Amino acid sequence: MEKEIIGWIYEAAEKVKSGLGDALKVDQKNGRTDLVTNVDKEVQDFIVKKIHDYDPKALILGEENGQDDTPIDKGRVFVIDPIDGTLNFVMQQENFCIMIAVYEEGVGQLGFIYDVMRDELLWGGPKVGKVYNNKEELSAPENKSLSEGLIGMNAALYRKDLFHAQEIGQTSMGIRVLGCAGLDFVAILKGTQIGYVSMLSPWDYAAGTIMMEQLGMTVIGENQQPLSFKGREFFIGATQAAMAEIQAISKANH
Ligand code: IPD
Ligand code: CA
Ligand code: CA
Ligand code: CA
Repeated sequence: MEKEIIGWIYEAAEKVKSGLGDALKVDQKNGRTDLVTNVDKEVQDFIVKKIHDYDPKALILGEENGQDDTPIDKGRVFVIDPIDGTLNFVMQQENFCIMIAVYEEGVGQLGFIYDVMRDELLWGGPKVGKVYNNKEELSAPENKSLSEGLIGMNAALYRKDLFHAQEIGQTSMGIRVLGCAGLDFVAILKGTQIGYVSMLSPWDYAAGTIMMEQLGMTVIGENQQPLSFKGREFFIGATQAAMAEIQAISKANH
């Protein structure tokens, strides 16, 4: 299965790159900074067609095209974010990803995050027992504490100081705001960030979560509960050591 998925991702990436060359059709979803383009929708349709040619029974949970409320606990579910970082895609033409995750009976089996313009594919999970960066196997990052590393954050969370985001940031070595959840996961998996604190939907966190857990790191959702896979929620993903500190700070103020 992983070979097929990697093939679809590379094909989808070609569509994304050629879409950048054409006139993009950009629409607003919930306000002027929440954008969707024709490429987001076309890439999701393209991946869904590939999935259904491969496995007609598979279910889809995807950000676009009205496929955003499928439960993940039964059967084989493909979770798709056709372009993660749409605002970067439109404004920067880089720093965006294609993300796919596979769940079977509610268990995450494979995650894929492809940084299209850097040609960097992080993929893996329980189904293959490893995580790769292109062809190279990744080892588990060092279990650094919050004060020893950089932390990724959602800008609004930091600005509004929700869940004591500012204290979390000040305890760390510094915050990073990348505008693309997938790239925060890539940084954590490579060990260049110790965590990520954000407000995310299932397609934002599915692939990254599967790979983080494979490498011994932890994730948690709203109210210190497991991720719900329903709607947008508070998200923490971090090394084990940093997770304990971040939870203590966010809990203390809640
Ligand atoms: C968004 C990006 C952004 C994160 C948002 C996501 P989208 O995804 O990952 O960095 O802060 O929470 O919704 O909408 O560009 O796929
Ligand atoms: Ca979006
Ligand atoms: Ca996203
Ligand atoms: Ca998206």
